[in-house]
Amino acid sequence: MLLNTVTAALACLSLPVVGAHATGLKSRRDCKQLSLPELAMREILSQGSPVFGHYQSVKSNTSEWMKAHPDSTLLVHMNIPGAHDAQTWNYSQATREQLLHINEIGGKIPRSSDTYRCQERSVVDMLNAGVRAFDLRYAFDVTNSVLVFWHGPALVSQTATLADTMFGFYKWLDDHPSEALLLSFQYEGGTTKYAANDATVQRALYDILTSRAAKKYILQTKDSFGTLGEARGKITLIRRFTMDRLDASYEASLPGVHFSPSDWTDNGQDITLVYNREKNGTAHIEDYYEPEAPKDSTPSYNIGLKYNATTANILRATSDAFPNDLFWSFASSRNIDMDPPLTPRIMALGNGTVTPSGGVNQQLLPFLQGLKGKRVGIVMVDFENAPGNLIDTILSL
Ligand SMILES: *[C@@H]1O[C@H](CO)[C@@H](O)[C@H](O)[C@H]1NC(C)=O
Ligand SMILES: *[C@@H]1O[C@H](CO)[C@@H](O)[C@H](O)[C@H]1NC(C)=O
Ligand SMILES: *[C@@H]1O[C@H](CO)[C@@H](O)[C@H](O)[C@H]1NC(C)=O
Ligand SMILES: *[C@@H]1O[C@H](CO)[C@@H](O)[C@H](O)[C@H]1NC(C)=O
Ligand SMILES: *[C@@H]1O[C@H](CO)[C@@H](O)[C@H](O)[C@H]1NC(C)=O
Repeated sequence: MLLNTVTAALACLSLPVVGAHATGLKSRRDCKQLSLPELAMREILSQGSPVFGHYQSVKSNTSEWMKAHPDSTLLVHMNIPGAHDAQTWNYSQATREQLLHINEIGGKIPRSSDTYRCQERSVVDMLNAGVRAFDLRYAFDVTNSVLVFWHGPALVSQTATLADTMFGFYKWLDDHPSEALLLSFQYEGGTTKYAANDATVQRALYDILTSRAAKKYILQTKDSFGTLGEARGKITLIRRFTMDRLDASYEASLPGVHFSPSDWTDNGQDITLVYNREKNGTAHIEDYYEPEAPKDSTPSYNIGLKYNATTANILRATSDAFPNDLFWSFASSRNIDMDPPLTPRIMALGNGTVTPSGGVNQQLLPFLQGLKGKRVGIVMVDFENAPGNLIDTILSL
């Protein structure tokens, strides 16, 4: 229904209307019924669609699963499914070929598109399916003027800017006010030869995160995770960046929780990160994205190492040891450079008969099913749509 309206609105913008009947646009009068702000909103959503997906509001027990939890629930006590490198969901050989000249500006020939792809459902489909934590990687586009999304040298889209994509989240929250989102932003290095996380990049990010719209939808608290009641209808910003090229007043005036990149141990299996020194707000993070296996080890061995690191952190979350700390586990992986390459997809989903026990996701499913009634914390996955009941399993614990 809404999709038809979007199409209709877009058809209204570009005259003459071609295929009006096919898009459900019955007459020119339909155009007149949309106000200019509505048309503008649809235009922004369309711009953001290569990253956000085609906007669709769904009412279901997964799109509004937080309704079942009382306002007083602490966010750190919740089980929250998340998507690692969510912006990569439509990155394919076709995307790569379309943007190839751009990718190659740095002189780097990108590897197969599977190297960079970590998801396959659009962000809005993930939202409707229950995913509430999103890992997003930004950097300047090749003209060094607008923030867009990348995964290493893989440019995801030139047109879906960070600014436009934010409106997708804002709109979705308007339609699902019971839900609370965690958006984690991290600067992506290694994009182009001339890219750097300099003052201009940091200022551009600051401006997006402090715009009038952002102030309305981003929870204006700092370095704390509160209750679900406070977080509903809002974005809890997770700052995996530091505004180190700007005056300290910029960082000081940003809301959200700071996960300082310098405290986030690279490839850590059990990172203890204090995000609030005054209140001793502490997170326990597993981000073992590259299993330290010998070069010639099998896919199954790598999957096993990754699975063990992830489940160890999830088990810490279920224990009584740190009841009010945040637990954040990444079941996801980077591409592992072996011959043949061990892609994030193979790590998550296995490779048929090559991996008899499946990938991390298939192994995680029965493990999670065995944790009914327990706190697992935030669990970030690659290819969150498989197996089909993975997200639902996290939501039903
Ligand atoms: C996904 O990528 C394909 C291939 O580049 C493209 O045709 C399609 O429009 C993209 N989808 C969205 C929602 O942008
Ligand atoms: C801070 O929290 C950590 C982890 O929960 C705990 O081990 C430590 O004892 C706490 N420190 C203080 C000063 O309370
Ligand atoms: C994972 O842990 C299990 C149980 O401790 C162990 O048997 C297995 O060898 C570990 N896998 C790897 C690849 O180290
Ligand atoms: C995955 O399986 C295919 C088909 O059996 C094989 O060609 C490929 O080398 C495998 N990849 C890995 C990393 O094992
Ligand atoms: C949503 O409803 C379906 C069908 O009744 C059920 O299988 C699923 O477990 C429910 N999910 C949640 C998160 O409540």
